[in-house]
Amino acid sequence: MKKLTMAVASSALLATAAWTAHALAQDQPAKAQQPQAPAGKGAEAQLREQGRYLATAADCIACHTAKGGKPYAGGLGIASPIGTIYSPNITPDKATGIGGYSFEAFDNAVRRGIAKDGSTLYPAMPYPSYAKMKPSDVKALYAYFMHDVTPVEQQNKATAIPWPLSMRWPLRFWRMAFAPDAVGEGVPGAPATTSETVARGRYLVEGAAHCGTCHTPRGLGLQEKALTDDFRVYLSGGVVDGYVAKNLRGDRKDGLGEWTPEQIVAFLKSGRNNHAAAFGGMAEVVQRSTQNMSDADLEAIAAYLKTLSPANPAQSPLAADATATQQLRAGTDRSNGALTFVDNCAACHRTSGSGYESTFPTLALSSVVNSDDPTSLIHIVLKGGQMPWTKAAPTHYGMPGFAARLTDRDIADVLTFVRSSWGNRAPAVSASDVAKVRKAVRAAPQPARPENG
Ligand code: HEC
Ligand code: HEC
Ligand code: HEC
Repeated sequence: MKKLTMAVASSALLATAAWTAHALAQDQPAKAQQPQAPAGKGAEAQLREQGRYLATAADCIACHTAKGGKPYAGGLGIASPIGTIYSPNITPDKATGIGGYSFEAFDNAVRRGIAKDGSTLYPAMPYPSYAKMKPSDVKALYAYFMHDVTPVEQQNKATAIPWPLSMRWPLRFWRMAFAPDAVGEGVPGAPATTSETVARGRYLVEGAAHCGTCHTPRGLGLQEKALTDDFRVYLSGGVVDGYVAKNLRGDRKDGLGEWTPEQIVAFLKSGRNNHAAAFGGMAEVVQRSTQNMSDADLEAIAAYLKTLSPANPAQSPLAADATATQQLRAGTDRSNGALTFVDNCAACHRTSGSGYESTFPTLALSSVVNSDDPTSLIHIVLKGGQMPWTKAAPTHYGMPGFAARLTDRDIADVLTFVRSSWGNRAPAVSASDVAKVRKAVRAAPQPARPENG
């Protein structure tokens, strides 16, 4: 009995690995179609328009479109420790897509993780979040997919998972243990004191927009540790594809405690604000999804995020300190970290670390820079980054990668310098931290330089 339980637990565990973001970094799906109003203005047309909007907010296209492939025709490889899962075709093609799905079958897949044949879907499909979507919203999604998505005849690719791990039945236990029940029509569990705006924000963040799939840490079964703000671990930061999808709670050093609601809206709409610029998986989320959401919904999301108490209430805010700026300008700090910064980073991020608003993000007093886990910082220095292209901010600036130019020691030193200057207070970064990320993200090998051994 124990053996069986262990087998179930371990295959379910393996089978549910770090899904979501793999898809996003591995292959970049095609751009979302520009919304266009369907002909006619009846209730049906309105429903379909609502469905189109929700599909964007839920970013269905991210996973269900292969690199260079037709929208929603599936075939995107999603890496997992036990093999690759290919997303299915969800265009309304009768033979190869979901054209033959009734509303009930569609709803079961989207909110309950149950496929048409009764088997359980891998939670690479974020149904534990979509379970929070109201039935009326799922009806709108269904109408949109059935009528406005172009049918594409394309066979689904079988998962490349070897037997016995390919057996789906253990997934059922995972589902029963970790997935919430699909909700009814009322917004569930909202405290009576919550404003309508906050309730709407919560509905979007927990449900369609599934922010927690990346931003909430995962437990032993690789389930999100919380799916709602009942626990402080919710949205307190997860690791996704070699980036930290960071703390979005009210922490004042490494969370959103110092961001105003307007700044959160600007970030989701344009991919940048005076605190940060979106990079990694978040650049794609902004590009494909949040920039196309209405101002009212972005304001609701911001209002909800601002209600989240700090994960670590003892955290004190950062205070600006001009010492590093003065030393860099006077040339008195001869440490490798400071010299590497002046030679490689200061042209854009400036000796004050403050960058140029909406062009080169600030490194001073930045919640990204001050996260305990330095993975994102090492990753972006190794590989560089491109801000998202958005309607609100059409020029997207980039940062070059330094993998082939700086050694692990240089990168550790420059990041340790950045994390302890201008008022920043975050732990030092070691050369072995950098070596690990360099390997994990398959960056170029460090340059051979005799003085660095
Ligand atoms: C993070 C990636 C991801 C996102 C986002 C996502 N899906 Fe999926 N979806 C998948 C994967 C992977 C599968 C297949 C899982 C499996 O094979 O067990 C799937 C399965 C499905 C299925 C079952 C199809 C079938 O052949 O039975 C439907 C329907 C579906 N998704 C619809 C949607 C809709 C609608 C959205 C947006 C509201 C969406 N998905 C968003 C990854 C995703
Ligand atoms: C596919 C994974 C993924 C999803 C889904 C996702 N994020 Fe992110 N997010 C990230 C990553 C990775 C970062 C770190 C990179 C950065 O700061 O741009 C990030 C960063 C952010 C930041 C910047 C925080 C800071 O202090 O600089 C905000 C704000 C944010 N996300 C909000 C959201 C919201 C709101 C949602 C849901 C609508 C969401 N994210 C969904 C991956 C994701
Ligand atoms: C050519 C200008 C340029 C140079 C040189 C440069 N950066 Fe950047 N940096 C940027 C841009 C642009 C972004 C935003 C990239 C994105 O959003 O994908 C950025 C983002 C970052 C971030 C993430 C901050 C945030 O909030 O989004 C860090 C950390 C960073 N740079 C550190 C460095 C370090 C350390 C160096 C030197 C080794 C460096 N940069 C050199 C332009 C530059």
